[in-house]
Amino acid sequence: MTSAAAPSVASGQGAKPPRHVAIIMDGNGRWAKRRLLPRIAGHKKGVEAAKTVARAAGDLGVEVLTLYAFSTENWRRPPDEVSDLMGLLRHFIEHDVQELSQNGVRLKIIGDYKTLQPDLVQLIDKAVADTAANCRTTLVIALNYGSQAEIARAAQALAQDVASGAAALADIDAAAIEARLYTADLPPPDLVIRTSGEQRLSNFLLWQAAYAELMFVDTLWPDFGKAHLAQALENFAMRERRFGGL
Ligand code: IPE
Ligand code: IPE
Ligand code: MG
Repeated sequence: MTSAAAPSVASGQGAKPPRHVAIIMDGNGRWAKRRLLPRIAGHKKGVEAAKTVARAAGDLGVEVLTLYAFSTENWRRPPDEVSDLMGLLRHFIEHDVQELSQNGVRLKIIGDYKTLQPDLVQLIDKAVADTAANCRTTLVIALNYGSQAEIARAAQALAQDVASGAAALADIDAAAIEARLYTADLPPPDLVIRTSGEQRLSNFLLWQAAYAELMFVDTLWPDFGKAHLAQALENFAMRERRFGGL
């Protein structure tokens, strides 16, 4: 590989692809509404988009793809919708993870998923264990995930270590917090994409995205595919990242 010697043109980053892309999959409900369909139809189509994008990520050289599937705030939705979403998740874990696994996908979950229904938790744990040796792409699903709760949890763990004498107050630094986040073993996201035109993070990877490039696209999630991801990566390659330096 001679890419290190290539001139990096206007972009400080050159064409180096992002290692970690994180996506806020938004717009399923609006996709369905435009078609006069129930919201669940949008969510179903959204799962198809997630599978397509998970496959595409590997083809496009993305090491880690994180998909925001259910937030700690999504419990505020009507019980029927929550139960539809859990049903789709169960179906995905039962029927689709194996195919992804054949494509070299390792599954990882971030978020407080252990509080979900016990049989669903079991299915998830099995899928994670079954795909643990795959190394082409890591598909991270954020499930019952909220960044603020994640950081509070890390703070609690640190406080406990200090209280027990396992750590000193002076040991509490950014690295110590990072090591206690769900994402401790992952590189930070280089690129955070949100679909559907909304421009907010909705409690997603607030700590980890400190230096991520943010991209807000109008496409509704069910319409997002490989070409959209490829376009986002092209756009990313044009960005100049500085990390506070010059
Ligand atoms: C994203 O689509 C899916 C989840 C948040 C689970 P939405 O359901 O938020 O769709 P809109 O925003 O209502 O269109
Ligand atoms: C963010 O989407 C959560 C997920 C994509 C899982 P929401 O649709 O829940 O976000 P808000 O409520 O519009 O901020
Ligand atoms: Mg939404």
